[in-house]
Amino acid sequence: MIDELKKHLEIVNNFSSDSPETIEAFRIEYLGKKGLLTHFFSEFKNIAPKNKKEFGQTINELKNKATNKVNDLKQQLEKKDGLNKAFKDLTRPSEPLEIGARHPISIVKNQIIDIFSRIGFNVSEGPEIEDDWHNFTALNLPEHHPARDMQDTFFIQTNPDVLLRTHTSSVQVRYMENNKPPIRTISPGRVYRNEAISARSHCFFHQVEGLYIDKNVSFADLKQTLQFFTTELFGKSKIRLRPSYFPFTEPSAEVDVYWGLESETDYKMTKGTGWLEIMGCGMVDPNVLENCGIDSNIYSGFAFGMGIDRIALLLHQISDIRLLSENDIRFLEQFKSAL
Ligand code: DAH
Repeated sequence: MIDELKKHLEIVNNFSSDSPETIEAFRIEYLGKKGLLTHFFSEFKNIAPKNKKEFGQTINELKNKATNKVNDLKQQLEKKDGLNKAFKDLTRPSEPLEIGARHPISIVKNQIIDIFSRIGFNVSEGPEIEDDWHNFTALNLPEHHPARDMQDTFFIQTNPDVLLRTHTSSVQVRYMENNKPPIRTISPGRVYRNEAISARSHCFFHQVEGLYIDKNVSFADLKQTLQFFTTELFGKSKIRLRPSYFPFTEPSAEVDVYWGLESETDYKMTKGTGWLEIMGCGMVDPNVLENCGIDSNIYSGFAFGMGIDRIALLLHQISDIRLLSENDIRFLEQFKSAL
């Protein structure tokens, strides 16, 4: 009898099938009410007492093995079935593809690049960690110059010559040092200032610097270039240049765009004047040209610098500059349809 049990153990061990009918037949044969196991259990009473222990253990082993085998085979079958169904149903909707959105800063930056590249400007970049020369001294801001206070600088504590650039004007210097006129370049990038963070200002933000150097460049060229830019970006061609002061330009001006006074928001944004300040500009100071190895008797040029973040707030009606750096997906997702 024991030998018969052992023979069945082997049969169970070797059994395999991927047909549901065969597996069910196997189950009935061993585990069914009138199956082999019921039969063997009923034989138990006829076994000689000295063999009962071994018989009992073997019959239990057979029962466990048969049960596990049936369960395993059924499980395999279900898995395969599920996969087949998933692949065969061509009407099943696909998994949604998560598509990201461009950041509003990048959107506006790309628009600005696009506009200036249409009138011959290339794009240049410089490092965010700068030295004193490129951020200040070469730009006509020698040590102890009071205008340095205009920009609250983050210095590296152990070395005052190393700092986080406070404006992208530093890229002007690098570009002029490495390229001969004619120069037409814009330099977008991140800048840093030690300012209190609020809805209107942040300790880091983004600027685009523009530089145009050639023979006989005049203030009229500057004005025409900026007017082309504001028309393209805002759809507004009315601008005014207010005299201002920057150490690196002479004369210097602040550029205002006439935004209009058509809505309540226009009133609020422009403080009731209709005018909105968007950038600083001027004719590059001859000292700056000389500092960068360009002969100021032969060449002249203009430069301008604007903040990208503020323009992004303006164009997309965003109320708080901090939203631009919080990475809140609910905010960022709203720009999916933009460029
Ligand atoms: N660098 C100035 C700033 O950060 C902006 C600026 C003004 C840049 C006049 C220029 C310029 O190139 O000509 O506020």
